[in-house]
Amino acid sequence: MKKVPGLPGHWWRRAKEANRSAPLSTPFYGVWDSVARFAAEIRTNSAFILKALADEKLATAKLYSIEWCKDCEQGALIPDELRPQFVPLRGKVEDFARSDELPSCIDMFLHDSSHSYRHMLWEFRQFWQRLRDGGLLVSHDVHMNAAFPEFVAKTYTDDKKTGRRDAQRTSHYEWGRWGYIGFVTKKINAQ
Ligand SMILES: C[S@@+](CC[C@H](N)C(=O)[O-])C[C@H]1O[C@@H](n2cnc3c(N)ncnc32)[C@H](O)[C@@H]1O
Repeated sequence: MKKVPGLPGHWWRRAKEANRSAPLSTPFYGVWDSVARFAAEIRTNSAFILKALADEKLATAKLYSIEWCKDCEQGALIPDELRPQFVPLRGKVEDFARSDELPSCIDMFLHDSSHSYRHMLWEFRQFWQRLRDGGLLVSHDVHMNAAFPEFVAKTYTDDKKTGRRDAQRTSHYEWGRWGYIGFVTKKINAQ
């Protein structure tokens, strides 16, 4: 498969993995698998989030994007008219979380950095605290380890008598998984 110039390194690696995991398909089909994966990835990209903010006329909302790799063209797909609401930060998410550069209250958090169990769980816990009531936590690649299901399980409280979910004391409204994307909406004031 020929390398596509300008394609970020992690997309290229995922395309190659997609082809390896379907050894019986011809390279032709492998390319279309990769295109479908890129399309799904682009939809979670900053440009689409910013477009949604513009469509909903959320003019004061900001999208913070954290990337530690200097070679990564952060926000490269964002059109100029959507840039005013984009806040690119260069460095480790762990350092930004310790600083006061990130908002203490957020509407949404999207994980798509290191997909180790430890890091994913750390990010979920860290940014869950900052989410407002009804806020949305979204994660890419939830299939890669048990961090997402474990995190969701921790937001449940069971009724001692019935053993079923106690809706009052459970600290999420909804959660789900669509393909490799997972989401949970936060409930504050669980009793
Ligand atoms: C799977 S890629 C996704 C990048 C971007 N979300 C996209 O869709 O183009 C993961 C990115 O997270 C960055 N990353 C990994 N660990 C990080 C950390 N601790 N702090 C900041 N960035 C990190 C990597 O450099 C890499 O570019």
